[in-house]
Amino acid sequence: VITKVKARQILDSRGIPTVEVDLHTNKGVFRASVPSGDSSGMYEAVELRDGDKGVYLGNGVAKAVKNINDKISEALVGMDPTLQSQIDQAMIDLDKTEKKGELGANAILAVSIAACKAGAAEKEACFSQVPLYRHIADLYGKVSPMLPVPAFTVISGGKHAGNNLAIQEIMILPTGANRFVEALQMGTETYHHLKAVITEKYGTHDCNVGESGGFAPNEAIRRAGYTDKIQIALDVAATNFCIGTRYDLDFKSPQKSGQNFLSAEDMVELYRELCNDFPIVSIEDPFDKEDWEHIKRFSSTGICQVVGDDLLMSNVKRIERAILEYACNALLLKINQVGTVTEVIEVVKQAKEAHWGVVTSHRCGETIDSFIADLSVGLSVGQIKAGAPCRGERLEKYIQVSFLFLMLMELVHFCGLLQILTC
Ligand code: PGA
Ligand code: ZN
Repeated sequence: VITKVKARQILDSRGIPTVEVDLHTNKGVFRASVPSGDSSGMYEAVELRDGDKGVYLGNGVAKAVKNINDKISEALVGMDPTLQSQIDQAMIDLDKTEKKGELGANAILAVSIAACKAGAAEKEACFSQVPLYRHIADLYGKVSPMLPVPAFTVISGGKHAGNNLAIQEIMILPTGANRFVEALQMGTETYHHLKAVITEKYGTHDCNVGESGGFAPNEAIRRAGYTDKIQIALDVAATNFCIGTRYDLDFKSPQKSGQNFLSAEDMVELYRELCNDFPIVSIEDPFDKEDWEHIKRFSSTGICQVVGDDLLMSNVKRIERAILEYACNALLLKINQVGTVTEVIEVVKQAKEAHWGVVTSHRCGETIDSFIADLSVGLSVGQIKAGAPCRGERLEKYIQVSFLFLMLMELVHFCGLLQILTC
C-alpha cells in the first residue's frame, strides 16, 4: 500500500521549476518528475505555477508541491498502487475542475507516474518484479509490447533555436533498422556526420543552418551509408508563423523582406515538393492549429503521415473531431497535456481505434525521468520523439528503450518502416 507521498520542486532541462515526487510503499520509494513545454494551449491540462514574479520569474511550483504533500497525500495513503485508475480518479475527484487547474496537472501527473512505477513493483510475478512497461501494457488491456522507432531531432529551428529556420524540428527516423539498438546507432552516427556536413558547408556557426542548411540531413544520411534506411520527419509547428491566412517563413529574420509569405495552398505545394525531393515520411503541424480546412486537404493527399500536436493538444475532444473530419492520421502524445496515466491510456486507445499512428513525445523542458520510454513500449505506440541523440535528459529515454530491447530481445517486436507507412 501507499504509505507516504512527498514532493519537491526541482529544475527542468531549461532551468525552470517543475515537480518531483517520491511515493513510498511497502516495496520501496518510487520517484517521478514531470516535463513542461513551450507550446501550451487552452485545451490542455493546466500546469500550476505560483505566479510570484519575484521567485523564479513567476514559474515556481510551490503550490503544486504543497497540494501533493497535503491534499493528494492524504487522499492516497492506504491505497493499493496497482489500482491505477482508482488512484487517478481519486485525484481527479479531489481537483474537481475540468482541466486539473485546482491541484495542478503537474502535481497530479507526477503522482500518477510514481504510482504506476510503484504498481509495477507491487505485482509479483515468478518471484521477481513486473517491469514497468509490462505493467503499463496490462493497464491498457490486450496489447503486445513493441519497441518504437525513434525520431531523432537533428536540426532545430522555429521557437526552439536562434537561427532563421521556420520549421521547428527536422528529425531522422532509422526505419530501415532491424532492431532498436541498431536504430540508435544509425541515428547517432548520422547525427555526427551531420555536424561535419554543416561545418564544412556553412561554417561552424549552427545559426547559419536556418538560412540554407535545413536539408543537410540528406547529405549526412548518405555519408553515414544509410540511404534508404533512414527517413526524415518534420515538425513544422506552423501555428508559430501563421499570420492571418498566410505563413511567414521569415518570421524569425530580423530584416523581414516580406517576400517569404506563403498562402496555405503554397504550403501544400511546398510540402509536396519537399516530400518529392527528400525521403520525408511524416509532417507534424503543417498548418496553423485552427486551420482545419488545409490540414484536412493536405491529409487527404496521402503523401505522408500527418501528425497533430498543437492541432490536438492531446485533448480527447480535439482528437475526436480530427478523427471524424480526417484531419490527420497520427497523434503526438504529450503526457503532461493529459494529466494522468489512466487518461493517457484512454487517449492512445482512441487514436489506435481510429487506426492512427501514435508518437510519444518529450517536451522541451525535460527531466531525467524515462517514463515515456516504458510507456511507448508498453502501449505499443510505434514511434517515440525524444530529441537528439545527445544530452542526458533526452538520452535517458532512448537508453531505457535500448535496455528494454536487451532485456527482452525475443519478446518485443520493433516497429519498422511498415507500421509507420501504414499508420
Ligand atoms: P514543446 O513542443 O516545445 O512545447 O515541448 C515540442 C513539439 O512541438 O513537439
Ligand atoms: Zn510539435
